[in-house]
Amino acid sequence: IRAIEQTKRPVAVPVDRPRRLRTTEPMRRLVRETRIHASQLVLPMFVAEGISQPHPISAMPGQVQHTLDSLARAVEESIDAGVGGVMLFGVPEHKDAEGTQASDPDGILNRATRFLADRFGDATVVQTDLCLDEFTDHGHCGVLDSRGRVDNDATLRRFNEIALAQAAAGSQLLGMSGMMDGQVASARAALDAAGYFDTAILAYSAKYASALFGPFREAVDSSLKGHRRSYQQDPANRREGLREALLDLAEGADVVMVKPATWYMDVLAEVKQLSRVPVWAYQVSGEYSMIEAAAANGWIERERAIVESVTSIVRAGADTVLTYWATEIARELR
Ligand code: PBG
Repeated sequence: IRAIEQTKRPVAVPVDRPRRLRTTEPMRRLVRETRIHASQLVLPMFVAEGISQPHPISAMPGQVQHTLDSLARAVEESIDAGVGGVMLFGVPEHKDAEGTQASDPDGILNRATRFLADRFGDATVVQTDLCLDEFTDHGHCGVLDSRGRVDNDATLRRFNEIALAQAAAGSQLLGMSGMMDGQVASARAALDAAGYFDTAILAYSAKYASALFGPFREAVDSSLKGHRRSYQQDPANRREGLREALLDLAEGADVVMVKPATWYMDVLAEVKQLSRVPVWAYQVSGEYSMIEAAAANGWIERERAIVESVTSIVRAGADTVLTYWATEIARELR
């Protein structure tokens, strides 16, 4: 009897009714705050030396190490879908302590860059990852000193050589992902001295030593045994990420980036506040593979999860998102 009496009690009639704007799909569409556009997506891709067929990356279902031919086809598809640009990673056949292949004009990454820039340079933005880890036999992003530690300033000299090789090959945007101190200023000076004033620098500014790079190791046949915690940032540090972004801005970065994306949205939102250059985010291999794996198990709806993840990264402040789903999402948006 008491329960029945309680239901009869008058409820306070709400004055604020946010649900009014959620009644129909056209209404929801009308009041949507964040829209993603194909042109703000960048497709990261792997190109391998010495393979005759695209080679599937088992830790990243749906992604492959490309041959030059399959790379060209994938770039063409991305252009047809309206994707904003492509980011290339090279997988060389031979690695050494200095990562020689990274700065060799005939190294796989520079060869692929030249091939794409000549063919598609007017239709898309060809970008390159500028780092040593895919090219070194020890797998680190820099060269080592006699005690086996990553040598910052010796690495800067190597990065300068790679910057010049990539610029000469036709890369329009150099993605500096090595997390060495002073790398942006150093590469900018080297580029300017050689007359490459129009080659832009994308600084992987706040790049964290993340477990989410796991699947990428297989993607580039990484030979790394240890970890990158002496140069990539501690995931616990937010203000340090802002400091890194401020340094890169002062050093002349044309674009700054936060990486990984989803677990670092607080850093992304704050970098967006302080930056006057475009702010990008990289939805990395682990973010990709977690969604693919959960979807393959039937635990989440794949397409919804993909669009929600990228929408959220844009909502948090990314002007552009690097995502392995770039072409798929772009097609979906058509
Ligand atoms: C360094 C580089 C890495 C990634 C992009 N650039 C690997 C690393 O720093 O360990 C990771 C990208 C991904 O996980 O999708 N060349």
